[in-house]
Amino acid sequence: MLDIYRYGDEVLREPTKDVTKFDDALAMLVEAMFDTMIEADGVGLAGPQVGVGSRLFVVDTRREGERLAFINPDIIETSDDSVPYEEGCLSIPGVYHDVMRPSRIVIRAQDVEGRHFTLEAGGLLARAIQHEYDHLQGKLFIDRLDDAERAKVIAQYEKRSKGRRRHR
Ligand code: NI
Repeated sequence: MLDIYRYGDEVLREPTKDVTKFDDALAMLVEAMFDTMIEADGVGLAGPQVGVGSRLFVVDTRREGERLAFINPDIIETSDDSVPYEEGCLSIPGVYHDVMRPSRIVIRAQDVEGRHFTLEAGGLLARAIQHEYDHLQGKLFIDRLDDAERAKVIAQYEKRSKGRRRHR
């Protein structure tokens, strides 16, 4: 299992670089990211969250055909609408908030073997992809909330993490 970096860790805010080597090390990293994500009960996990400054993320919505690795991704189209959906993040565990985002996207990326693919997605898959894609820009879902909402979510998170530390 990989360590998941938390809100406040600088690595979550740092820029990411393209993946250039599609080798065994990359395949092993991606497998470890899937395992870590499933163990933590998440639907997505991005490189920066495990301390890797590379443009890659994994998504598994637990629906058939939706266990996907995205290497060097680009969201090339987004629908014109903006819809709410409750999001959480393995780097800010235990807090959730509705975030507005387009309901459908088209993404172009490479798989672990370097093959290019294009995918159109809606629903939870589109949501997870956009959330993880933000991580590659050093962006967290709370950055998309207004100031009052963000302050509330951060306060909830800090209260939870303090409580957890006391119990150790
Ligand atoms: Ni996240």
